[in-house]
Amino acid sequence: MADSRVRVLFDEKTLAKRCEELAAEIVASAPKDLLVVAVLKGSFMFAADLIRALHRAGLAPQVEFIHLSSYRDATVSSGQVTILRDVESAIEGRDVLLIDDILESGRTLVFAKDLLAARGARQVYTAVLLEKPGKRAVHIEADFVGFRCPDLFVVGYGMDIAHSYRQLPFVGVIDTKSDAPDLFEPS
Ligand code: IMP
Ligand code: MG
Repeated sequence: MADSRVRVLFDEKTLAKRCEELAAEIVASAPKDLLVVAVLKGSFMFAADLIRALHRAGLAPQVEFIHLSSYRDATVSSGQVTILRDVESAIEGRDVLLIDDILESGRTLVFAKDLLAARGARQVYTAVLLEKPGKRAVHIEADFVGFRCPDLFVVGYGMDIAHSYRQLPFVGVIDTKSDAPDLFEPS
């Protein structure tokens, strides 16, 4: 990746503002006995910000994690979703908010939603930071969407290519044109 640059798509301020707006939308849906389930790994930064925004908006959810995998060190989905680490909490009768980074084919979110519904969740809400329109392989719409995103492979704010770029506080795309403006250059 020596020649690569990351072009900013959604900057820190934009992400922070949208998290507050999403939290307000989620509060307005009046979830009861809310359990937040963040889908690892890509959503960890978004989830951390959204969960704190939920607190500021007056909610006191319990927080859990599920580690799912559909990408394997590549930018192409395998199409198969597997559980690498499951939630520990009982789901029965609870309102659950699933948080993921990107809704693309929809397979990850459908898998997680079906899993929690099968365990007796009262309601499963879904929140995604980014949605790539026109990429769905299975039918699902997220209840809360941060931004619509162009059909590009994005990194940063928790999202990676082979575990790199997760640390970036913004969402960007790898740009191979070294003279492109508005670039962050990874060290
Ligand atoms: P889906 O199952 O095809 O909807 O893919 C969703 C998962 O693929 C997300 O949770 C991400 O982890 C990953 N993913 C999809 N597109 C991107 C991308 O552009 N950058 C990084 N990860 C992505
Ligand atoms: Mg993911």
